Amino acid sequence: MIVIEPSILSADFTRLGEQAHEAEAAGLKAIQIDIMDGRFVPNITFGPGVVQALRSVVTLTLDVHLMIVEPERYLETFAKAGADRLIVHQETCPHLHRTLQAIRDLGVEAGVTINPGTPVSAIEEVFDLIDLVQVMTVNPGFGGQEFLHSQLSKIQRIRAILMREHRKIPIAVDGGIDATTAPLVVEAGATVLIAGSSVYNEYASVKENVNAMLSSIERSL
Ligand code: DX5
Repeated sequence: MIVIEPSILSADFTRLGEQAHEAEAAGLKAIQIDIMDGRFVPNITFGPGVVQALRSVVTLTLDVHLMIVEPERYLETFAKAGADRLIVHQETCPHLHRTLQAIRDLGVEAGVTINPGTPVSAIEEVFDLIDLVQVMTVNPGFGGQEFLHSQLSKIQRIRAILMREHRKIPIAVDGGIDATTAPLVVEAGATVLIAGSSVYNEYASVKENVNAMLSSIERSL
């Protein structure tokens, strides 16, 4: 089952609660909250306070994407703020195995994500500790970037490993996902499509944009 998960990075920050509600009303099950520290990525966004605020207004799964250095210092803070899943970058975790264990010990789901330049081999040893693996299909930091087609083979390779190991872990993709690229990533093996600017924009509603992406996927199958 293909899941579209809006990233609020492209939402209207003056009415974030309403925009999260719009995703919920459109029947979506989760939103991704992009936490950026201006060090791991060249942008600064939100902190645990925004997670807490959104937690108080929606029942959606709050998927927190930690694009920050030393994420292990903030796991408990974001879990207490209401995160249902914490996704860490392999590139920021010298003790990735321990960090993923720490996330699980907090009682929230654990996800790992890798940047376009990071090989799959960097995360192969932790597939038993995660509930989701996320492939960055842009270099993280901003919404509205160009999809990197080079990552399609990486998605395929991860799918092959997970199938070989009989692991039922969803593959998420994040960055440049829209009605054109969605069929490509689904064909490669992704089932969770994180989408920001193709969902939150001035051209159509969340529901219309999501339906356009799902229709595009259906037509391609
Ligand atoms: C990292 C962020 C973005 C965002 C999606 O840059 O994680 O990828 O969620 O942005 P779009 O869908 O606009 O590329």
